[in-house]
Amino acid sequence: MKGVILQQLMLETVLSPALFPLHQSDIETKIVVVIDILRATSTICEALQQGAVEIVATATPDEALTYRSKGFLCAAERDGVTVPGFELGNAPQDYSRELVGGKSIALTTTNGTRCLRMSTNAHQVFAGSFLNISVLASYLRREQKPVLLFCAGWKDKFNLEDTFFAGALASMLAKDFPSDCDATLAAMHMWELNKDRAADFLKNASHARRFQHLQRETDIDVCLRLDAAPVLPLFKDGIIRNLSENMVDFDA
Ligand code: MLT
Repeated sequence: MKGVILQQLMLETVLSPALFPLHQSDIETKIVVVIDILRATSTICEALQQGAVEIVATATPDEALTYRSKGFLCAAERDGVTVPGFELGNAPQDYSRELVGGKSIALTTTNGTRCLRMSTNAHQVFAGSFLNISVLASYLRREQKPVLLFCAGWKDKFNLEDTFFAGALASMLAKDFPSDCDATLAAMHMWELNKDRAADFLKNASHARRFQHLQRETDIDVCLRLDAAPVLPLFKDGIIRNLSENMVDFDA
């Protein structure tokens, strides 16, 4: 019986969307945490924290624009920059309460929203970031379901920041979720070795170099704010809403 329980509470890490198909079996039993630290899941957490009602994750900018006639704010990012013609891109600091409070948003990004849409068949799908790491860890501990940490990477390539976060979250859950997954062990080591110098460590990331070129270096610090947005962005039927608002006795 003990073996069966341990098996059900496994935690695994997917280092790239290209590897996601290898984790499709029993995906309907797992809680998937989509991770796109720079910046999609950080932006989603910030938007909900600032009062956005819902965020529709669309496949393309054109699809996002169809929501404008329904009163949605339209947000699109490709290759790190705001798509021309959109009022918002993918920088968390642009999602102020004045702009997004009480609003519905249609959002599409290069990697993060694609990974949310890939995870549709999971038991549950959440956006994870440093901004909501503690409330998310508490929820996963409480739900006692197998967990799949899904790193968005960059166009199917591995990236440092998403695996770094996966290591942070897996380390917080290590007592509750045994893991025989090498990707998780590697992520945890990356976190343990660099957790006290996160900003410096991520300056080496390919996305940090992209940001330097785009004069967006400060976005990294914005996305490293621990627990700045204690929300539970649940992705269901194409729409992200804050689950923690509907939980009465949630001990976040
Ligand atoms: C993404 O979703 O691919 C990333 O967050 C890209 C970005 O915002 O720079």
